[in-house]
Amino acid sequence: MESPRLPRVVQTGRDVFAAVAAWRRQGKRIGLVPTMGALHDGHLSLVAAARRSCDVVIVSLFVNPTQFGPSEDYAKYPRTLDADLQRLAPLNVDLVFAPSSDEMYPPGHATSVDVGGVSETLEGPLRPGHFRGVATVVLKLFHLAPADAAFFGQKDYQQALVIRRMTADLNVPIAIQVCPIVREPDGLAMSSRNAYLSADERQRALVLHWTLQNVVAQVAAGQRDAKRIMATMRSTFDATPGVTLDYAVIADAETLALVDQIAAPCVALVAARVGATRLIDNELLRP
Ligand code: PAJ
Repeated sequence: MESPRLPRVVQTGRDVFAAVAAWRRQGKRIGLVPTMGALHDGHLSLVAAARRSCDVVIVSLFVNPTQFGPSEDYAKYPRTLDADLQRLAPLNVDLVFAPSSDEMYPPGHATSVDVGGVSETLEGPLRPGHFRGVATVVLKLFHLAPADAAFFGQKDYQQALVIRRMTADLNVPIAIQVCPIVREPDGLAMSSRNAYLSADERQRALVLHWTLQNVVAQVAAGQRDAKRIMATMRSTFDATPGVTLDYAVIADAETLALVDQIAAPCVALVAARVGATRLIDNELLRP
């Protein structure tokens, strides 16, 4: 059988902008899927969602230096361009934008986007500058590839809220679509960082999913006391050696403010370090 053709790749802002401009003139509906590469089925689900609702699908692959803290994994973050293109080939992607770091941040760049409110909790204080880096690169991508819709994963729940806030506040005419979390068969949320886990850590990492499943079950059984549920979340983590909890909370699904009672739509969010690897996961709670 003939293997599908690899997608066209451009590396400069000029080229991606020209391609999108031509499609816009033809009245095409354009979908953009921003990623840092090391693509897995979670990323591919966003590409498939874009494919279903858009005429043209663009995927960006860029390990964005400005969203990594000085002690984070920027240098060792997996870079797998050839494998990524192979994975995208069957999905009929129209264009891949894979810029260099210098292309996105030429010498002298000095402007960044600070989103207030929703970026100031949870991941915000734990990863100083992270959401500034995310918001800045995503706004740049939105300018370089002015799509009709952009696709993000619920996996990075707070990130999706930050991007929604930014597009609303800065009048960016791009619809933000948030797609469900894709999981491994045993429930672990897919993540490029799962590749760092040893076999033993991979097993321990399931505590994030199990904890969230337990929350969903408690809410289904009628529990509405968020403080009680959060206490059970923390005790599950305390009982798992080799896993260090950063947070386990129940928050308002829109504002991420912690709640006492589960009344309005909420989200349970966890972040933990399994060995040296930091993982996050979440579940929406609809009372
Ligand atoms: P990255 O971690 O590569 O993720 C790209 C997109 O894939 C994000 O919207 C993320 O939420 C989504 N995603 C990751 N794992 C997923 C899963 N298991 N199920 C569904 N979607 C999943 O997030 C980033 O890159 C960067 O911060 C970026 C937005 C590209 C800006 O640099």
